[in-house]
Amino acid sequence: MSNILDVQGLTTVFKTHDGDVKAVNDVSFSIKAGEALGIVGESGSGKSQTFLSIMGLLATNGYSTGSAKLTGQELIGLPTRDLNKVRGLRMSMIFQDPMTSLNPYMRISKQLSEVLVHHKGMSEKDARASALEMLDRVRIPEARKRFDMYPHEFSGGMRQRVMIAMALLCEPELLIADEPTTALDVTVQAQILDLLGDLKRDFNTAIVMITHDLGVVAGICDHVQVMYAGRIIESAPVNELFANPQHPYTAGLLASSPRLDIVNSEEKLTTIPGQPPNLQRLPTGCSFAPRCPHAFDRCIAELPMPRPTETRSPDHSPDDIHVKACHLEDHKGLAA
Ligand SMILES: Nc1ncnc2c1ncn2[C@@H]1O[C@H](COP(=O)(O)OP(=O)(O)O)[C@@H](O)[C@H]1O
Ligand SMILES: [Mg+2]
Repeated sequence: MSNILDVQGLTTVFKTHDGDVKAVNDVSFSIKAGEALGIVGESGSGKSQTFLSIMGLLATNGYSTGSAKLTGQELIGLPTRDLNKVRGLRMSMIFQDPMTSLNPYMRISKQLSEVLVHHKGMSEKDARASALEMLDRVRIPEARKRFDMYPHEFSGGMRQRVMIAMALLCEPELLIADEPTTALDVTVQAQILDLLGDLKRDFNTAIVMITHDLGVVAGICDHVQVMYAGRIIESAPVNELFANPQHPYTAGLLASSPRLDIVNSEEKLTTIPGQPPNLQRLPTGCSFAPRCPHAFDRCIAELPMPRPTETRSPDHSPDDIHVKACHLEDHKGLAA
C-alpha cells in the first residue's frame, strides 16, 4: 500500500534570545492509509513540534527544513494559501483542549456546517444534514437535540467528540491526534479511544496518536515511534516494541508506565533518573547516554544512527521493521 505521509530529514529549529533550540532533529518516517502510528516520549521530546511542522503551524520563531510529503505533495515551505487547501481537508489535527479549535460564541451546528460550505461548496441545508450525521457517527447522544447548542453546553468528553467530528467532516486521509484524551477521566478516555479505533476502520483514515501514555498506544496503534530529544530513537510494530524493547530509553519508559494487563502486579514502577538534555547544547554522541545505565565509550563519542534490528518477531511482514538508534548489540528484550 502506498504511503499517505512521507517524512525525510525533518528538522525544526526555534530562534531564541539565547540561541537556537533544535526541537525536531533529522526525523524520518512514513504512514500508510488506515495505519495508526503512535508517537511516544517524555514531555518536551519534540512530539507536537514534529506534527505542527508538518501542518505548517509553528510559532513565528520556528522554521523547518527537510521534507514532508502528503501523497507526494511537499508540505514544508508550502505557502499558507496552499496549506489552507490541505489542512482540514486532507489532513486534520486535534488537540488536548477542544476549545483551541472550537469557537465559544458559535453554535456547534454552525461551526460544523461552515467547514463543509467553505471547503466543499455545499449548500447550507446539505452541510447541516452532513454535519448532523457526523455528530451521530462520533456517538453524541441525541445529536439532533444538541446540534444547535454552544460548546460550553457540552461536557469535556462530548466537546472532544465534536472536535473529532469537525476534523473528520471532509474525510481527511490523515488525522493527527495530539494527546486527545489526556485531559479526560479514564472512562471517557477509553470511550474516545474506542471511537478513534472505529473511525480508523470505517474511514480508512491514517491516525497519528501523540501521547506520553504507553497504555493509549497499546490500545489503538499498529506501529510506535519513540522520541527522545527531538529524534526518533526506536520504531517498531506495537507488540514487538512492548515485548522486545531495544533502546534503553524505551525499556525505561515501559518500566515506568503502569501495566493495565497485570492485576495485582508485584512489579514496581521505576522512573528514569536524570533529565533530558538541553536542546540548545546537544551532546556529540547519543542524547540519552548521560542517563543510560548501559552507556559505554562509543555512546559518548558517536551519534547512533537508526538501523534495523535483527530481533523481529517470526510473524513479521517486510513492512514491520524494527529500528533502533543505539550502539548496543541487539538482544532479547532489554530490562531497564
Ligand atoms: N516557540 C518556541 N520557542 C522555543 N522553543 C520552543 C518553542 N516551541 C516549542 N519549543 C521547544 O521545543 C521542544 C519540543 O516541544 P514539543 O514538541 O511541544 O514537546 P512534546 O514532546 O511534549 O510535544 C521543547 O523543548 C519546547 O520547549
Ligand atoms: Mg506535546
